[in-house]
Order: sequence, then C-alpha cells, then structure tokens
Amino acid sequence: MIFHGKTQNQTGSKHYRDRLKKKSFVWHPNTQMREWNSFNEIIKAKGMWLTDSNGNSLLDGVASMWCNVWGHSKPELVNAITKQSKKLQHSPMFNLTNEPAEKLAESLVKISPGMHRVFYSDNGSSAMEIAFKMALQYWSNIGEKKKTKIATLENGYHGDTFGAMAVGYVPEFFGKFKKQLFPTIQIPVPNKYRIPNGYSYLDYQSFCIDNIEKQFSKDDKIAAFVMESGAQVAGGVIIFPKEFQRKISKLCKKYNVLLVLDEIATGFGRLGSMIQYTEQKSIPDIVAYGKMLTGGYLTMAATLANKKIYDSFLGEFNDWKHLFHGHTFTGNPLSAAVANENLKLYQKNNLIKKIQNTSKVFEEYYDKISKIEIVGDIRHKGMLMGIELVKDKKARHQLILKNQ
Ligand SMILES: Cc1ncc(COP(=O)(O)O)c(C=O)c1O
Repeated sequence: MIFHGKTQNQTGSKHYRDRLKKKSFVWHPNTQMREWNSFNEIIKAKGMWLTDSNGNSLLDGVASMWCNVWGHSKPELVNAITKQSKKLQHSPMFNLTNEPAEKLAESLVKISPGMHRVFYSDNGSSAMEIAFKMALQYWSNIGEKKKTKIATLENGYHGDTFGAMAVGYVPEFFGKFKKQLFPTIQIPVPNKYRIPNGYSYLDYQSFCIDNIEKQFSKDDKIAAFVMESGAQVAGGVIIFPKEFQRKISKLCKKYNVLLVLDEIATGFGRLGSMIQYTEQKSIPDIVAYGKMLTGGYLTMAATLANKKIYDSFLGEFNDWKHLFHGHTFTGNPLSAAVANENLKLYQKNNLIKKIQNTSKVFEEYYDKISKIEIVGDIRHKGMLMGIELVKDKKARHQLILKNQ
C-alpha cells in the first residue's frame, strides 16, 4: 500500500492520538496486534485510491489483496450488485439454484477448456479444500481406495485452512500446526535465482521433473498433484520456466495422477492470460479460481472439475458418492451477479490484450530497479512482479531472514 500525501506515521497528530483512545475490537489477519495501535480506517474508495477517515488518499497498490480488477466504485459492477440485491440477495444452493450462479457456471465452463461443472465457495482456501476433497473422493468413488496421497511443489501457497496448510506448507506460518497436518510429498521447484550449486537452471528443471517422475513411478498411492498455475505467487513470485507445467501434466497422465491447479492468484489475467493453464498447455482435472473472479467486489471462489471427476460422483443416493461439502453462502447470487458483469467487462474492454501490452511497461524499469543496492532479482510475468531484496548482492543473502 503506498501512502500518498501526509506521512504514514502520524504519531504526532491529534487524529492519531484520538485513534489510540478509540478502542478497537478487531483482530487483524497475520498481524502482531501488540505492534499496532491503529490502522488507517478506510471509509471510501474510487479507482485505485482509498480514502481514510482523516482525508488521506492511499494508493491501493496491492489491488486489495490482488483481487481488484477495475478500481473501486466501478459503476457497472456497483450497478450489478444493486440490481441483483433488489431481486434476490441470498438463497442456498442446497437443492436450489439461482440464475446468476447458473449463468456464471456456464461462462466459467465455456472459458475453461476441459472443465465440465462448477462448485462454488466463498474464498480461495475453501476452493482448494474442495479441490482436494474432489480429487481424493474421485479415487474412492471409482474403487481405487489406495490412492490417498497428495504430491505438490515446495514453496506453494494454497490458503490458511488445514488442508491448504498441509499442501501449501509454509514453515514460518504453519509450523505451529505441523503435527495436525496430513503428510504430503513435496517436490523441489526451480527458482532461477536460487539454483543449488552444481546445477544450471536447465539441469535443475530436469532434476525437478525427474524427481516427480521418480515419485510417481515408485508410489501408486499418489492421488493428485497440486500446484499453482504458471507461477508461485505468495511463495516469492517464482515464475515457472517454459514447458515445466506442461511436463508435469504429461507425467500426471502417464502415471494416472490427477492434476489439480490453483489459479486463484494467477488466473483472470494476472499472468497475461485469462486462463493460465491454456497458455501452459496443461489441462487439469480440477482447477480453482477466486480473487479477481468478482473483480474484487464480493467474496466468491469456484472449483471446476472435468467430466471424468464429476461423473464419478453420480449414483443412487444410498451409494453415498455425492460430494459432502457446502457452505452457507455457496453460489451467492450477489457475488455471482457481479462476477457475471466482471466477465462481461473483460470481453468488452479486451482486457487480456491490454494487460499483455501494459505488462511490457514493467520491463522499461528493470535496469533502473536492478541498480538499487539491495535488489537481488526481478521476476515478472504479466501483471505480476517480484523484486527480491538481498543483504548482499553477490552472496544473495536474503534481506529478511526467515524465522525457521
Ligand atoms: C495461490 C493462492 N491460493 C489460495 C489462496 C487463498 O485464497 P483466500 O485468501 O481467498 O482464502 C491464495 C491467497 O492469496 C493464493 O494466492
């Protein structure tokens, strides 16, 4: 978040002192609350600018957690919510349906090659939990009860719920829960900037791919391979080399392992294509979307499955093959209505083409940024950019030491 106007630390101001007196009852995410006495209180926003209660403007530089597509208060999106709110605000998806959710599912299937059905949830972590449950239950449904393990790439991130922590295991964040997490098979990932000694970048890519094949060939209990699509985002912007994801998808087919892709952060244009797996030529069995799905206006995520997965859940009621998962706000009509409008805007504005052009602007700054003493590496694809800060450029020591 970039502060615009007055200084961020307003410890001397009357406003700040008043805020300290004002008791807050909110517990903030990923925050050591003792360090924070007050936060800027956002009262409104327009375009990419947030306004706080003190009249300051702040640039929404993180796009409200990588989800805001069009800026705030976009009339078309606001109208879509308002219009829908006058008709139907919420109705459950348990044995019922609603028009915006139906329309959105049709559109999502249309833009997602190989996908057949859409299961809704209201955040990315849940969408990934659903993906894991679909993948594991698929094998049970078809009678392959031994296939129960999940393999994944090291350094991935899939959310903060228990399954997501187990698969996208970040030791610094989730170490406290390690004993409660189910085991996963973790495969190294090629980070061009941090290739182990003795390997070239290309050699290390082959090492990682060979490692996957070794695991797949020796362990027929592996049910699914889970990975972010195109790049690892929260794990430090590790952009996958060309062919890497395609090779993994080919191995999945060869060894009868389901491919589960997480496009929550990388789909919908973030990396310069609407659906990243089409660019990577790696059609998954299951894929999850979130974040930019509603343009960043309301909370919604979606897990899509192919026909093979979906069909395995069909049967008589007493077969108990159905998917035992559902949230109160699954398929919320307001979220679906704004997502439908969002998709319309993508087409109307030819947004993906625009992103591809705009993303070139970043390249013009590479030289300038890389000259800064603490900049070790710049990684960029589409509208995703990571700048790795180091204490020592030559030794590549990280500036912020990890709390292991
Ligand atoms: C790749 C990826 N998957 C899953 C999630 C979890 O999404 P949410 O924060 O909506 O639960 C995130 C969030 O940043 C993410 O980047």
